[in-house]
Amino acid sequence: MTYIPNSIEARDVASLVHMQTNLRTHQQEGPHVIVRGEGCRVFDDSGRDYIDAVAGLWCASLGFGSERLAKVAYEQMRNLGYYHLYRHRSNEPAIALAETLLELAPVPMARVVFQCSGSEANDTAIKLAWYYWNAVGKPQRTKIIARRMAYHGSTCAAVSLSGKPDMHAGFGLPFAPFKHTEFPHYYRRHESGETQEEFSARMAEALETLIQAEGADTIAAFFAEPVMGAGGAILPPRGYFEKIQAVLRKYDILFVADEVICGFARTGEMWGCQTFGIRPDMVTSAKALSAAMQPISAVLVSERIHAAMLAQSDKFGNFAHGYTYAGHPGGGRGRARGAEDLCGDRHRRSRQAPRRRAAGGARPAQGASAGRRRARGRPHPRHGAHARRRRAHSLRRRAQRRRASRSRGQAPRAAATRGGRPFGVRSAAGDRSRRDRRRQRAT
Ligand SMILES: Cc1ncc(COP(=O)(O)O)c(C=O)c1O
Repeated sequence: MTYIPNSIEARDVASLVHMQTNLRTHQQEGPHVIVRGEGCRVFDDSGRDYIDAVAGLWCASLGFGSERLAKVAYEQMRNLGYYHLYRHRSNEPAIALAETLLELAPVPMARVVFQCSGSEANDTAIKLAWYYWNAVGKPQRTKIIARRMAYHGSTCAAVSLSGKPDMHAGFGLPFAPFKHTEFPHYYRRHESGETQEEFSARMAEALETLIQAEGADTIAAFFAEPVMGAGGAILPPRGYFEKIQAVLRKYDILFVADEVICGFARTGEMWGCQTFGIRPDMVTSAKALSAAMQPISAVLVSERIHAAMLAQSDKFGNFAHGYTYAGHPGGGRGRARGAEDLCGDRHRRSRQAPRRRAAGGARPAQGASAGRRRARGRPHPRHGAHARRRRAHSLRRRAQRRRASRSRGQAPRAAATRGGRPFGVRSAAGDRSRRDRRRQRAT
């Protein structure tokens, strides 16, 4: 195809390399140029609009344009457009974002490490797994297990972790320490008459067989996406993670949950780990973490990993790892506001979670539907004993206030009215109908 000289198509074809694209075909077909976004729609350079049902690359969780976040980013960039986290330097937006992530974490986590992409987050988690086993005197634990058809990114280590042959071909990858276990695609791979639970048990057995063949004492970590994304949007079969985690615990293998796609409410709960009962040692997060408005990613590390990082830092005099743009103040500030936009009440509620957990209390099912709450035996917030106690308490408080205002000779609070009648003050008609109902019940 010949393009009009200097057209945007001609300039694209002459200058850019496109990801996950047939480069030869691209020379012929040219680009599809997106110029603008609004809510869930994007507009191309001919003015046609599309609903982008995948939100870009599972990214734009707050839509493709946000005046509010643009203002936040603008103000932040005017004030401090860049700073880093090397050699004790810090910035408040990065601190605030790390605090938010620790409060939101699916299980108690100790610290946050920032990067700029999902691939880098997984690379960091791989390095931290190795760092951990070195710290605890088991440097031979170097192998990493992931699943066939998993996708964990494109950097050398993250793509080695991935189990997609098309992404290894021609690159001489995966690297040797990366091993792959079964692809848990129940629909395509179950045997005749095999239930999901039986299939999950077979997957767990395959993992155990691989661990034993490689030598359990050579395995550092297992990586998994709660829902496999690029591998085909594959939900874990029933009982899968429960059985897999039992094997990992048996051989003391670290579990890293790749929440790059699933995090930030994509599976209904804040994290896929909550939806599928995963208790990871590390969580990697990106994409909806910043609603993709900033290239930012995070690794949440548990106390076990953090303690080893401190020990290694003592030993070597430095935590010798870092990315120039990690903890960028623009990303931190935008994300903290984005969390409010995205999570609303859910975000605020989960801010109390660490305290509740520290007190040994149950964690509420964040954002779970009534049906799912019931299925898990958790009451809806407006039902159950706690809610009844809360309602009784608020009725008692209202009655106390009423008595107090009567004894002061005041009318009850004007604002708290229903149909012109103050809350808690019975109307004569209401009293009559209540009396009638009581009488009916009595007879
Ligand atoms: C589950 C998962 N992990 C990691 C990545 C890599 O993220 P990035 O493209 O930001 O490096 C992706 C990208 O789609 C992903 O889906």
